[in-house]
Amino acid sequence: MQATMDPLKSTSKKSAWVDLAAHYEKLRGMHLRQLFKEDPKRGERYTLEATGLLLDYSKNLVTDETLELLFRLAAESNLQDHIEAMFRGEKINFTENRAVLHTALRAPRHASMMAGGENVVPKVHAVLDRMAHLSAQVRNGEWRGHTGKRIRNVVNIGIGGSDLGPVMAYEALKYYSDRSIRFRFVSNIDGADILEALRDLDPAETLLLVSSKTFTTLETMANARTARGWLLAGLGGDEKAIAGHFVAISTNAPEVAKFGIDTANMFEFWDWVGGRYSMSSAIGLSTMIAIGEENFRAMLSGLHQMDEHFRTAPAAQNLPALLGLLGLWYSDFFGAQTVAVLPYEHYLKRFPAYLQQLTMESNGKSITRAGKNVAHDTGPIYWGEPGTNGQHSFYQLIHQGTRLIPCDFIAFAKPIHAVGPHHDMLIANVFAQAEALAFGKTAAQAEAEGTPQWLVPHRVFAGNRPSNVILAERLTPEILGKLVALYEHAVFTQGVIWDIDSFDQWGVELGKVLAQRIIPELESAAEPKLAHDSSTNNLIRYYRKHKETA
Ligand code: F6P
Repeated sequence: MQATMDPLKSTSKKSAWVDLAAHYEKLRGMHLRQLFKEDPKRGERYTLEATGLLLDYSKNLVTDETLELLFRLAAESNLQDHIEAMFRGEKINFTENRAVLHTALRAPRHASMMAGGENVVPKVHAVLDRMAHLSAQVRNGEWRGHTGKRIRNVVNIGIGGSDLGPVMAYEALKYYSDRSIRFRFVSNIDGADILEALRDLDPAETLLLVSSKTFTTLETMANARTARGWLLAGLGGDEKAIAGHFVAISTNAPEVAKFGIDTANMFEFWDWVGGRYSMSSAIGLSTMIAIGEENFRAMLSGLHQMDEHFRTAPAAQNLPALLGLLGLWYSDFFGAQTVAVLPYEHYLKRFPAYLQQLTMESNGKSITRAGKNVAHDTGPIYWGEPGTNGQHSFYQLIHQGTRLIPCDFIAFAKPIHAVGPHHDMLIANVFAQAEALAFGKTAAQAEAEGTPQWLVPHRVFAGNRPSNVILAERLTPEILGKLVALYEHAVFTQGVIWDIDSFDQWGVELGKVLAQRIIPELESAAEPKLAHDSSTNNLIRYYRKHKETA
């Protein structure tokens, strides 16, 4: 299958790519002011609504011709075949010889999705049912700790995909959460993280979720061991206490058992779930405990609705495909280095951090499926902060700096909390920012405002800075699911066209291996024989010399 899906030509030699390059040359002098003037209906025409999300893409530097070429590029890259291959459970993560089936995690109970010749949906639902049982027990107080106390604190220990999804979802859906339970998330190997997370908790009331696909990750295992020590110290050293306070979420049962967690307290997922695509697997246990089974299933339904939309909608009506193609247009033809994600919903404050792993670990690649260097740029840098905080910080550069920074604004018609006039003020800022970025302010306008001549250049806003506005009715578990799947599949779309494996992450390996080599050199009592480069050797010597001194 791989062979038939391989693009006939390398990406930048495809006819649509060549035509896009020529089209870019024609379009580059164009201004959004002109595009809107020429087509008074542009705002309506370039708005796509599906699954309860609205994408206004009218303030992008595109014309009908650009869009046709982008859709042609998707077709020439066999996007639809690649989508089908993913849903069919083919091993599209070919460098790891794995299927990519996070979509099965949110498939309805009656569905059938195959991996390795097996319908995996029944086992997905079996785990979901076990998660629901444990969540209910913790939430209703049936689950008791070693001393018989009910659980008041849940601490998720994990990193990367085993942390960022759960933290983001917890923060996003806090309003729907059980406020009588405290949730903490520990990821960093820096001891300060676990110390601050545990310092005011009673071990007798604490449930620790050790979340790790591999159950070998340095940070997670170190934090889990520290947490075990803390728990045992607080509960009189009785090893039997572990059973009532530790739960593992992993694909690796032998390692879980080795750590001392009863595999009866293990929630399984599978190698066809990538870490950064795992928040709808058992990795989402903290989310389910926080918001309850019903809300968690609503989130899964949102994810599934977007999965189906992505699988079935033609490119021109396909939200993730369109978002991915627009991003690629800036990245590869305008040379944009970054994308700003700007949620105007405070509960989405961790969404940009979550997207960073999703987008950059997926598409931060430079080797094609054929093992050659790519001849074009791949994944841009994602970053962002919730509005309106960013406006008083980095927006200056987006408005008047020298770089092109496409922005995704995310906002909701209804607030989670209606607090006086706050929401109208918040949303007015979203619309104002997108308007200001697109249309700017001319010198004539600045002059007409009475700006002194010498100041006019400083008061001019060039405009023509692109943005998407994504709107939905209200941030609910279901809508969060849709937003997550929207970006997952936009990343997929780009990876297909860039002809890379979006599902491996070899780039994080080298540093991990080198750290394992350096740890004993920092720890050893005797002076180690160092064989690194002169800079690393010197840094190690400095650290060893100073680490013990007050
Ligand atoms: O940083 C690399 C990575 O493998 C991520 O892809 C993953 O989400 C994270 O480490 C954590 O891995 P694990 O869940 O196996 O502990």
